[in-house]
Amino acid sequence: MSFSKIIATGSYLPTGVVTNYDLAKMVDTSHDWIYSRTGIEQRHIAHSDETTCDLAEQAVYAAMESGRFDATDIDLIVVATTTADQVFPSTACILQERLGIRNSPAFDVQAVCAGFLYAIDIADKFIRTNCANRALVIGAETFSRIIDWTDRTTCVLFGDGAGVVVLEASGTPGIHSTHLRANGAYKDLLSVPVGVSRNFDQVINGSAYTQMQGGEVFKIAVKCMEQIAVEALEANEAAVDQVDWMIPHQANTRIITATAKRLGIPMEKVIVTINQHGNTSAASIPLALDTAVRDGRIKTGDTILIEGFGGGFTWGSAFLTF
Ligand code: ACO
Repeated sequence: MSFSKIIATGSYLPTGVVTNYDLAKMVDTSHDWIYSRTGIEQRHIAHSDETTCDLAEQAVYAAMESGRFDATDIDLIVVATTTADQVFPSTACILQERLGIRNSPAFDVQAVCAGFLYAIDIADKFIRTNCANRALVIGAETFSRIIDWTDRTTCVLFGDGAGVVVLEASGTPGIHSTHLRANGAYKDLLSVPVGVSRNFDQVINGSAYTQMQGGEVFKIAVKCMEQIAVEALEANEAAVDQVDWMIPHQANTRIITATAKRLGIPMEKVIVTINQHGNTSAASIPLALDTAVRDGRIKTGDTILIEGFGGGFTWGSAFLTF
């Protein structure tokens, strides 16, 4: 049987940095409020002419520096994004053309902040069923474009960026398991309630903004992340102390610490990047993974538990050997 294994990671952050102090000049907020409620100190924001595909492309080039793959080796591209460059073609197809890759399947996945887990689940299944050998799995967002920068309840939370993992067929795992969930009954708690077939004029005039009932999202996120992490551990008959690293979706430090505490995972084993990146939606997990690989914390052979939660609601986990 084939498994999939991560052979390279990469990430890219736009050069523009907006600190909490910058935001305090734009809306009625303060560094102390934002930092104490969320753990965020700064976020990167894409330049006005920089697109989600631009960020994804740079993240792939960063992964290529590993020398472990070439664009011509890639036979599947899955891009998790909420903020595609165009209505169509997909960001994955635009990226495929830029990388000079021909004929591989290429498509976008939309599961908001859980999107990267949905993407890795799909790519893993392509590889396990011998339908692909080497896949680019990307989370990339210009989430700043769907934020109302006059709304202090949402604008302090989000940022832009991209991360990628390269999955390759392997005789040994790699990815041991993935678990995905969704519950559309919660669709109104976190949404951009306009789109192509609904109130498109708001998209055209640039007022398609994220709306969120933060307190409700917080409570449900903690429960769902714990439950899906426990499912991952049970499916692999793994004890909590076998986990070397937990990489949660970076939405709020308080959600991350509450989830880790419920699972009994010490914070020294949790990768936290939200202080520097904010919530980059589908990009947050691969950005955190690449950060910890590059700074030497995550090493080959480490056991990693990944978990994410996003609008929909959608949530998921992955259990893997790096
Ligand atoms: N600065 C100062 N005050 C603020 C700000 C701000 N930026 N934002 C809200 N406030 C005020 C509110 O108006 C409120 O004032 P009031 O008491 O006078 O009415 C007060 O602060 C408390 O507001 P709450 O919303 O109760 O604050 P809370 O402690 O719940 O923190 C937060 C809000 C940070 C949004 C939190 O609820 C949270 O993180 N929720 C989860 C969000 C999340 O994870 N979202 C992403 C999911 S992933 C995805 O799919 C996109």
